[in-house]
Amino acid sequence: MKKINVITIDGPSASGKGALARGIANKFDFNILDSGVLYRLYAYLSKMSFSPDEIANQIEGYVEFKKNKEKLLVSYKTTDITSQLRSEIIAKSASEHSSKKEVREALFNIQRNFYDGGGLVADGRDMGTVVFKDAKLKIFLTASPEERAKRRFIELQNLGQEVNMPALIADIEQRDKKDSSRKLSPLLPAEDAHIIDSSNMKLDEVFSLAEKLINKEFK
Ligand code: DC
Repeated sequence: MKKINVITIDGPSASGKGALARGIANKFDFNILDSGVLYRLYAYLSKMSFSPDEIANQIEGYVEFKKNKEKLLVSYKTTDITSQLRSEIIAKSASEHSSKKEVREALFNIQRNFYDGGGLVADGRDMGTVVFKDAKLKIFLTASPEERAKRRFIELQNLGQEVNMPALIADIEQRDKKDSSRKLSPLLPAEDAHIIDSSNMKLDEVFSLAEKLINKEFK
């Protein structure tokens, strides 16, 4: 298989994939694909009774992604919907939609189209196993549910959303179970993925480890 200039970062929710992907994109000047946001957008747009293909068209026609140092900003028809997409309600609905074949198919080409021949860092659940099987470097980033709940707690608090820690841990565990046990594109490391458990690591430690792998693979 001919390998393309893509780095995939898969792993469960709140494992730090987004922060690592942004760090890599900034340092190496790569484009970025947050595929979870596409599933969240799907959940958001499905409330408007669009079909899967119509949702894909809405995303391609009316959604804009803007990257700043800390986060990815998403707007739909010029309205900023970043915090709505980050809510736990949308996360739950995205997880439900993501087990459907028609949804995964509708989003497949949008994801592939993020690769324009230059460098791309793509994070999600099936970037290395399905969407970019031909990626040059695959990372599977994980952390314990408690550690991930702590990180999500801080993220949601920063967005001004009310959060309850036990409920958050329960939600994360339930979503993990669903994402890992579904038939289509379950959350699993690709055979050729480098597995990083970040439970006891700071972001800069994870970043230096990833940097070493990148320097080796992208010589
Ligand atoms: O990474 P996230 O929490 O933003 O993702 C939201 C949901 O989307 C998550 O529960 C699973 C789903 N998802 C997926 O099935 N495949 C991807 N590549 C990315 C996300």
